[in-house]
Amino acid sequence: MDRFTSILLAAGLGCFALAFVLSGVYPWLITDAREPEATIAEVARRVTPEFKQLKEAYPVAFAAAFPGADECLTDKDLAGVPLDDPRRARSEDAWRAAHTIALRDGRDAYVAEACWHCHSQYVRPVANEAQRFGRVRSAADDNNALQRPVLWGTRRVGPDLTHEGGRRSNDWHVAHLRDPASTSPGSIMPRYTWYFRDGWQVWRTIDPELAEREGLAPTTRYPIPGVYATEAEARSALERVRAETPENLHAERDRLEVAPSSGPNETALALLAYLQWLGTWDASQREGVPQ
Ligand code: HEC
Repeated sequence: MDRFTSILLAAGLGCFALAFVLSGVYPWLITDAREPEATIAEVARRVTPEFKQLKEAYPVAFAAAFPGADECLTDKDLAGVPLDDPRRARSEDAWRAAHTIALRDGRDAYVAEACWHCHSQYVRPVANEAQRFGRVRSAADDNNALQRPVLWGTRRVGPDLTHEGGRRSNDWHVAHLRDPASTSPGSIMPRYTWYFRDGWQVWRTIDPELAEREGLAPTTRYPIPGVYATEAEARSALERVRAETPENLHAERDRLEVAPSSGPNETALALLAYLQWLGTWDASQREGVPQ
């Protein structure tokens, strides 16, 4: 009997040791030992054009969300600035710093809202998944600090998001987050209304002739970027827009008005930055790492 128990004990310990080697030591040997994990700052180095556009579309929330936002200059700000002007390099650094914070906070929001409960981030090498969702995911794609915890997900109620970056515009994502059925009829994705904040915005009513030609209602109006907390702030923004509109467009200047609005808050901007980043980074962009 004693002999039997010791065989069981030895077999048990043997199985434990084997499992430890296979799921602990072996993966460690083939991954970490070769390439260090990329940091969030590293994967944020290439700032997506969509992230820069967020600043143009939502300047107020952007400034509140990211420290140093006023040093982040858009192409419009940089028009006419010489190539060797130090402001360009400072702006590049500021964009990278803001992008780093955005990706980290966006990932945290993605985890906190359990987006991963309905979305996978794993294109598998089976069933022609690559044709639906893009390139098959490799281990190197996950060797970065943003994939901690790894967000492969457990099931697909909605589509895989591995290559979501750049597939849709920011405007689409904003409308979709607020009310998924507005962009995807019949969608069962929940509305994320708490990512929006009420405020005030400057609107420009459409040119009546254009409205008639295009068959649009004459009351159609377009928002000018920037959702402000108070009506007074929006009024001074209106004065700025009026002053910036060329003299000869005086009719344009008169079609401006201030009205209530709502826009994405700081967390929403970070989440959008994260969605627009997905799939834009891969290990080949790493500096000094042999491929
Ligand atoms: C209850 C399940 C569910 C949850 C939770 C959920 N989604 Fe979705 N999602 C869907 C479904 C279903 C679709 C497809 C229909 C549509 O476009 O709304 C979708 C579509 C999307 C798309 C569009 C993909 C494309 O390019 O077509 C994005 C982006 C997205 N979800 C992001 C998110 C984010 C971010 C969260 C968390 C804040 C989230 N989803 C939470 C079910 C879900």
